Amino acid sequence: MIRLRAPAKLNLYLRVLGRRPDGYHELETLFERVDLADELTFESAATLQVSCDDASLSCGEDNLILKAARALQACSGTKSGARIHLTKRIPIAAGLGGGSSDAAATLLGLNELWGLRYGAEQLLSLAAALGSDVPFFLSPTPFAIGRGRGERCEPIQNAPRLFQVLVTPRERLSTKEIYDVLDQTRNQGGDFNLTAAIPSISMVLHALRNGSLGELAKGLWNDLEPEAIRRCPPISLIQSHLRSFGCLATRLSGSGSSVFGLCRDAAQAQTVATQLRASASPTWRIEIIQTDSPSLVSSASAH
Ligand code: C5P
Repeated sequence: MIRLRAPAKLNLYLRVLGRRPDGYHELETLFERVDLADELTFESAATLQVSCDDASLSCGEDNLILKAARALQACSGTKSGARIHLTKRIPIAAGLGGGSSDAAATLLGLNELWGLRYGAEQLLSLAAALGSDVPFFLSPTPFAIGRGRGERCEPIQNAPRLFQVLVTPRERLSTKEIYDVLDQTRNQGGDFNLTAAIPSISMVLHALRNGSLGELAKGLWNDLEPEAIRRCPPISLIQSHLRSFGCLATRLSGSGSSVFGLCRDAAQAQTVATQLRASASPTWRIEIIQTDSPSLVSSASAH
């Protein structure tokens, strides 16, 4: 049996540069893999079978795990099957890339189980066809810049470990709808690209590489946040709680609805989470997270 972790991601920075002819949006984003992770196990079987401990998640053909497995079968011509079980810990449809990470782990797990020996380039091209965020989860470092749809990733070496408090309200948001509304806003003349106060990705990168948390806090950004707040007002309430308990900055991840607060260190994250648990809505899921270890990401362990 092969057992793999599938970590979540945050977008520390997300600019939407414009709509592309293929309907997707050109992005400039800074990804961070964090230590909140799903777990997948892979065992040999005659056919492909997916199961999950979370009954709310479909294990049918729309599941990205099955799509990833079928893509690998089609590309390799293998007749092998697999029994894949998912233990779900990452909140679903919350902007944390859980489904994309599961798909990336499936490519890695089945590449090994089926002895395909595909290299990074082949896996990356399969990953990009599965979803915009999937290639990032194959990236060798916990931080990477994503461009294009988000699928063209440039790893960032030697970045420090960050500590965050992650809060997920009950509401789920549709990524497609949030992007569509951005287009309408822009078509009505409210160009989201031309606001002078928007920090640049090079500033954020510089701050990250220098380990300057104060500068990094000033550079966090997400163009999708205003529309996500309009659709889900608790996001703004969560952010004001995180600020009042001392977080250096707070942002939506991806298209939401998860929100993170950047903390100075592990101790501050602990204090913020404790204060928040005492005053928050019982429907919010609150977690202390940190940057994932690079070594844990792609290591397949055979049992
Ligand atoms: O690539 P993925 O399937 O994860 O994207 C989900 C949806 O998010 C797309 O159907 C599209 O509406 C929107 N999207 C976008 N531009 C991107 C990434 C996603 O418009 N760069």
